[in-house]
Amino acid sequence: VLIDQRRLPASLEVVRLATYQEAANAIREMVVRGAPAIGITAAFGLALAAVRSTSPTPAGILAELEVAARTLQAARPTAVNLRWALNAILAGARPFTGSADQLRAWVCSRAQALADADVEINKRMGVHGADLIDDGDTIIHHCNTGALAAVDWGTALGAIRMAHEQGKRVRVLVDETRPRLQGARLTAWELDQYSIPYDIITDGMAGHFLQRGDVQKVMFGADRVAKNGDVANKIGTYMLSLAAFENRVPVYAVVPTSSIDASVPTGTQIPIEERDPSEVLEIRYQGEQVAPAGAHARNPAFDITPNRLITALVTENGIVYPPFDESLSQANPLDGTVPGG
Ligand code: MRU
Repeated sequence: VLIDQRRLPASLEVVRLATYQEAANAIREMVVRGAPAIGITAAFGLALAAVRSTSPTPAGILAELEVAARTLQAARPTAVNLRWALNAILAGARPFTGSADQLRAWVCSRAQALADADVEINKRMGVHGADLIDDGDTIIHHCNTGALAAVDWGTALGAIRMAHEQGKRVRVLVDETRPRLQGARLTAWELDQYSIPYDIITDGMAGHFLQRGDVQKVMFGADRVAKNGDVANKIGTYMLSLAAFENRVPVYAVVPTSSIDASVPTGTQIPIEERDPSEVLEIRYQGEQVAPAGAHARNPAFDITPNRLITALVTENGIVYPPFDESLSQANPLDGTVPGG
């Protein structure tokens, strides 16, 4: 069961998925989005594949799980949590020795364990991240990294929420996050729920506020972090980080270790999803489409922020500082270990 994030903030609707193909479609179409949320959705996609399988043998179910995993993996390329969650289930399903029904039950309980662990991990990151936030801070936040982007609580927005719950007075400048407006639609909607004060700004305004000294911290999540600490995140993160760096404002990426991909040495090896240009072109003004008919657009959904612009990465295991090559391998075993065993 997913909140349909395409409908927010106009309406809060839930969709029920019955097959792994529907789960893959929900990820591709961004019914669900945000790196941890799509990872866990993929895990439940495998649970659906296992439950729907009519195979009488564990080997037959496993074969169907492998097919389902390939379909789910192909849904979106950048967030590594998708691969991480699928591997977390396949790694246990491959050597499974019980009956077919036991395997079905195991896949379901494993997906649920990953979902439960996600909430706990987010809250741990929230506590570490809140330590970096001072009373009275104004924080620029990019994209949506709240409860909607995870199973619950969230990553960077979870840290801001934790600081708020600790009684710190925080104010958020919410990057609207063109072209899909995750900031204006989703982050603002969440901040309303938590009664955290905010102002929405267009992405291009961030440099102005940073330059004026109005901002004390920049915080965002990540879809994938390379071994050297380069961060792939929602398009616009790089320009925001550059402006923060130039103005000596600390930049924090709040990331679960499931978003760290030790198999890519640097950000340049991270695949960047290019989405349909219509997402850029179909802005309406007074009911009319802004761009001329037949206009062309580019639409990379993510960019890479080089590690030199990142002050620290906040993980569930603690805050890690440069040089990230060393500190990340201590924060994360980088051996495919997943919570819940
Ligand atoms: O395209 P989206 O909306 O799935 O992109 C999401 C982001 O870039 C988030 O900032 C990222 O997943 C980290 S949030 C938990």
